Amino acid sequence: MYTILDGKTLAEKILLEIKKEIKENKFSPTLAVVIVGNNSASKIYVENKNKKAKEIGINSQIISFKENISQKNLEKEIEKLSKDKNIHAILVQLPLPKHINPQAIIEKIPPNKDVDGFHPYNLGKLISGNEPYAKACTPLGIIRLLEEYNINIEGKNVVIVGRSNIVGKPLAAMFTNQNATVTLCHSKTKELPKICKQADILVCAIGQSKFFNKNYIKKDSIVIDVGINKNSEGKLTGDVNFENIKEKTSYITPVPKGIGPMTIAMLMLNTLNLYKNSKKNKSQRKG
Ligand code: GUN
Repeated sequence: MYTILDGKTLAEKILLEIKKEIKENKFSPTLAVVIVGNNSASKIYVENKNKKAKEIGINSQIISFKENISQKNLEKEIEKLSKDKNIHAILVQLPLPKHINPQAIIEKIPPNKDVDGFHPYNLGKLISGNEPYAKACTPLGIIRLLEEYNINIEGKNVVIVGRSNIVGKPLAAMFTNQNATVTLCHSKTKELPKICKQADILVCAIGQSKFFNKNYIKKDSIVIDVGINKNSEGKLTGDVNFENIKEKTSYITPVPKGIGPMTIAMLMLNTLNLYKNSKKNKSQRKG
């Protein structure tokens, strides 16, 4: 028998807690979500984030730029947001158009407003085992979901497939910091099924619909599916062939209602924390 790791229910619980805290303390956290161009998936993600933020009392604004905005002008716009004292958290939705250098844009966000935890300062803090201003939302959501089900991480063999800056790399650091033994796989990895079969916790983050079948799964392992793919009928599918592998696992995340809602909940939590941090620093300066 397997247990479903219910990200949707946990995300709703966390969002309610955030909403309560904002209301009771009359907080006014503000999130700026920057989107460039017309990527339809990105547009949907950004709308979802904006809607959720508003529901729980976070001021959220979407700032859209045309596909053809120049690197220089986009950097200037990010600088404007950085200087705005009423904005506590900035998210630049990725991917950006091909002519834009995303790293240079990320580096324009001050680390204390970097709600994604993508700035080198925050990544450096994370990798060195220190506390960044914020940690990447999807990896944070994965760790939080495992904690909710009292799944011990220490000493586990964790295999992460997908080495993106958004998921795989920061997640590898977070698992390492919790004393797991981490293998980070990618498109050039040899004998992928063999490596995956050694995983106590397998994280699938490659963006290929239903790629992972029974050949990749160790019996009674924990499987985390980060994939958000659309099949030919427009239905949301994960990277994991859920029906094929579920009986072989002890815990498994569904798609939808797994890691997706957790990512949004962690974005809201990071926004609240950046807001609280900005106030803390102000009162320290006053004192
Ligand atoms: N694109 C896909 N996931 C993410 C994310 O977590 N943050 C940002 N900024 N862009 C993304």
